[in-house]
Amino acid sequence: MKPAFLLLAALLANGAERRAPFNADWRFLKGDVAAAQSLEFDDSSWRQLNLPHDWAIEGPFDRNISPHQGSLPFFGTAWYRKQFTLPDSAKASRIFIEFDGAMANSTVWINGVELGGRPYGYIGFTFDLTPHLRWNGQKNVIAVRLAPEPRSSRWYPGAGLYRNVWLVTAAPVHIPMWGTYVPTTSSAGGKCTVTSKTEISNQSSSTAKVTLHTTVLDPSGRAVAKHSAVTEIASGATASVRAGLTVDHEQLWDTDHPQLYTLVSEVRDGRHVVDRYTTPFGIRTIAFDKAKGFLLNGRPLKLHGVCLHHDLGALGAAVNRRATERQLEILRSMGANAIRTSHNPPSPELLELCDRMGFLVIDEAFDMWRRPKNPNDYHKYFDQWAERDARDMIRRDRNHPSVILWSIGNEIPEQHAADGAKTAAWLTGIFHEEDPTRPTTSAFDAFPDSIKNGLAAAVDVPGFNYKPFRYGEILKDHPDWVIYGSETSSCVSSRGVYHLPLEKYEKHPSHQLTSYDILSPPWAYLPDPEFEAQDALPQVLGEFVWTGFDYLGEPTPYFMGPGDNAEDWPVRSSYFGIVDLAGFPKDRYYLYQSVWTTKPMVHILPHWNWAGHEGQMIPVMAYTNAEEVELFLNGKSLGRKKRGAEPVELPTGKNISPDLKFRSKYRLMWQVPYAPGAIKAVAYSGGKPVAEKEIRTAGAPARIRLLPDRTQLTASGDDLSFITVRIEDQNGNLCPESDNLVRFKVEGAGSLAAVDNGNAATLEPFQADNRKAFNGLALLIVRTQSKPGTIEITAASEGLAPATAKLTTRAGNQ
Ligand code: GAL
Repeated sequence: MKPAFLLLAALLANGAERRAPFNADWRFLKGDVAAAQSLEFDDSSWRQLNLPHDWAIEGPFDRNISPHQGSLPFFGTAWYRKQFTLPDSAKASRIFIEFDGAMANSTVWINGVELGGRPYGYIGFTFDLTPHLRWNGQKNVIAVRLAPEPRSSRWYPGAGLYRNVWLVTAAPVHIPMWGTYVPTTSSAGGKCTVTSKTEISNQSSSTAKVTLHTTVLDPSGRAVAKHSAVTEIASGATASVRAGLTVDHEQLWDTDHPQLYTLVSEVRDGRHVVDRYTTPFGIRTIAFDKAKGFLLNGRPLKLHGVCLHHDLGALGAAVNRRATERQLEILRSMGANAIRTSHNPPSPELLELCDRMGFLVIDEAFDMWRRPKNPNDYHKYFDQWAERDARDMIRRDRNHPSVILWSIGNEIPEQHAADGAKTAAWLTGIFHEEDPTRPTTSAFDAFPDSIKNGLAAAVDVPGFNYKPFRYGEILKDHPDWVIYGSETSSCVSSRGVYHLPLEKYEKHPSHQLTSYDILSPPWAYLPDPEFEAQDALPQVLGEFVWTGFDYLGEPTPYFMGPGDNAEDWPVRSSYFGIVDLAGFPKDRYYLYQSVWTTKPMVHILPHWNWAGHEGQMIPVMAYTNAEEVELFLNGKSLGRKKRGAEPVELPTGKNISPDLKFRSKYRLMWQVPYAPGAIKAVAYSGGKPVAEKEIRTAGAPARIRLLPDRTQLTASGDDLSFITVRIEDQNGNLCPESDNLVRFKVEGAGSLAAVDNGNAATLEPFQADNRKAFNGLALLIVRTQSKPGTIEITAASEGLAPATAKLTTRAGNQ
């Protein structure tokens, strides 16, 4: 056996991963420098940091950068360099670097040799470093130059090596990146067949005769099916090996029980394992039925989805597993079961978490094709890169059970063009070729152009953006189509803000939008009409709300349309989120919960601090999934209302419905003469109280309360605690209008990662040790170090009693 094979055999026998994080100790420089790719270049004055890193989130906000991209400095040139040495024991191995994404227009060098690069910041890629490496303790240098362009995106893209980077040490005969394909399979009579296709690449100098051992591990890690095949691969060639494996009594992957199997592919040379590659997968069936809608394992399931951009609020675009998991947890409690990764391939972590947590995913490739939305966007690269990027995205993501649809694009300008259907059909062909198990979709807003020009017919499952009033008509004209709301609602609001009287306005001068959930831009509408359309048409697959979370950029309705809009400044993030940028639910979170969940709940709005309005009528809305709600003011009943009995009249988008009014059966409303004290809702089903919610008039701010989402963390260096900072009166009521400035101290085994408060109209930096509360709340994000210990947090504010919190961290990986 050759030495590299023996090395890998030893490595794998010790349980070592062939792929290791390559994130620590990079050097970074914002700006351009000559010859920074060369081995000898002196980078000692550059900043030292760990990846993932988003340079733009560090700020500062800049009026000269469009608020549509977050007013943050995301373009320009920057360099990253990393020095490393390799043990001579790895000399005969192949060494690869893998980037989960690089934002954007990357070029990569090893030891001064250019390897290539990718314009699209959302795509993962790899390079083989082997021919250019130095051994015998000599240093090697990876250099990456990024050159993201201004006006390249409709939202905040982030900037830098913002996703994980990996170093792979593999035998010359190995399974390449994304080299396995495990189409999830048909199941009959308690038996199911897993058909895997595994590539093995022979980069050795001679023909290799190896055995591929394929094992299926069940969700508890038990081997339940095995297959082996001998294959001979010529030097420089790649073989593809198929295996059919029968799994008895399969445990299905479902949204409630997301059972995950693992395919272990081992390349063996005689008795020695020279390469091992693991692929998590799920066993499930999906179907898109024109009568029953979406079927998961034969069960009809309405898609209660949200669209998500990739940024993680105050953390920017720098990927973090826990931050992503927290987003999904919050959305799951609202009843969401699906995510559309608008409008680009997501981080690998998002899909891993969706697999594990039981979310369904529409995985989206592009926001445009050849015709631009912005002067420097992907249209410049489409002809050269679209096929490669699409194939790479599919190969990366096709084993995730969560992924149910491939989206070839969002609101593509070619909807209006006669040749649009040709490109749609070409892309659909690529997706079918790489993965025949999932349909393609695209999100169409152009009506009827997307239909007239043949694009809707060129995908398998057309999605329609903002068309609940057209579903019936589309289905009547195209009885064989299966359709869904790929983007819905686009309601806008600021958490905790209530403007009276209750009326629709285009832009409130305060830069804050009322949270009565009555505002949407002209092309959009409130959540309620979509609920009604979905309820009326079970065959429509479901909806994807714009958006689950607020995101950086696109502060509609501010900076909408032409002109300088000087009066709109400062705003820099969206108002569309059901949840604000800091992760705090807005009121309509509970409106969705009332329609998407069955565990009894009731929510009321607004807050109950209306000093100066005594005796005036305050509109009070209740969202509930129970049958009736009784409202009490200071213990006195204001009567019961049945859900749906007295529809609430709401405005809707100008371009949507001619009369601008919609009567919602999903909300209850009272006019209540204001008196301080307590407003309380009691929800009843079957005549019995099942849920209640009380809001008390708060007194003056008296103290800070810290509420960490988790107090036991891993000392991985990237685990996070999200700490809600509440301003309370002396009785523990939230002070709903307070904006006290809170200062933080984080000591011990962690550090302060970022602060936020969900206010879209502030230019306070996210990386600071202080934050003003916004309507009573702020957020502190604490990051663990890699050494275990305790983290002590203190929060102080002038005139308020301070607060402390203690977190503990234990060794491990996040
Ligand atoms: C859609 C678009 C989204 C977002 C949204 C706001 O047309 O696809 O990316 O811009 O409008 O309502």
